[in-house]
Amino acid sequence: MKGIVLAGGTGSRLFPLTKITNKHLLPVYNKPMIYYPIQTLVDAGIKDILIVTGGRNSGDFLRLLANGKEFGLKHLNYTYQEGEGGIAEALALAQHFADGQKICVILGDNIIEGSIRQAVEDFKRQERGAKILLKEVPDAERFGVAELRDGKIVGIEEKPRRPKSNYAVTGIYLYDDTVFDKISQVERSQRGELEITDVNNAYVREGTMTFAFLEGWWTDAGTFDSLLRATNLVAETERKRDLALIAQSAAAAAADED
Ligand code: DAU
Repeated sequence: MKGIVLAGGTGSRLFPLTKITNKHLLPVYNKPMIYYPIQTLVDAGIKDILIVTGGRNSGDFLRLLANGKEFGLKHLNYTYQEGEGGIAEALALAQHFADGQKICVILGDNIIEGSIRQAVEDFKRQERGAKILLKEVPDAERFGVAELRDGKIVGIEEKPRRPKSNYAVTGIYLYDDTVFDKISQVERSQRGELEITDVNNAYVREGTMTFAFLEGWWTDAGTFDSLLRATNLVAETERKRDLALIAQSAAAAAADED
């Protein structure tokens, strides 16, 4: 399966932090934001990756990431989105790269604690359609929100004033190759974007949308508050990991002495 990181858009909600750089190059604790979604794909066993970027600072992605050596990759692919016509518009640019294969798409500002490997493996076995990852949140009105009935998704609403559930649609999407036909049938929303929620609803109507719940914490990092939250969550997770490593080596040293 191929992987796509969507890192276009202008990051206007983070102005003036994004006045002279791209949102996905901003720091989240000790790494640039885009490192996290790339690592999520790599950890799921996906090695053929396309970065969709845009704006004035797109060249910086190449300088930062080059061929992805830091992630154990031999090669990275790049493409450029003119303007910010929406997530689905950015994804449409990946059609040539996808080349008829299934794809795993992740938004460049989505950071997770756990792994998506299981969902990726399950989707490899799914005959056709799409799969999305949901997360229960206290502020569902900020996201795409899935309505569930009898264990199935019956509809998704983008940033509803009164959410029908607490299940946010995270920015991790698995699609078969019909996604590009579906994008071509979507019309621009009131905010002038091709909405990924409309694409997902096309799969829901077709009866081929499945879902799984994401384990561990999940956050976007596209507002001041969520950027701070992302930094704190990553810092806390790294601290816990360090403490666990120290405890492990202390236990190993004690066992050696016995
Ligand atoms: O984070 C999950 C949410 O992401 C979902 O729950 C929503 O359904 C989905 O619409 C999206 O909502 P946002 O309003 O948070 O999306 P935003 O415009 O902030 O874009 C998120 C990422 O998508 C951004 O970091 C880069 C990529 N993007 C976005 C746009 C508008 C592009 O690559 N090109 C674009 O034109």
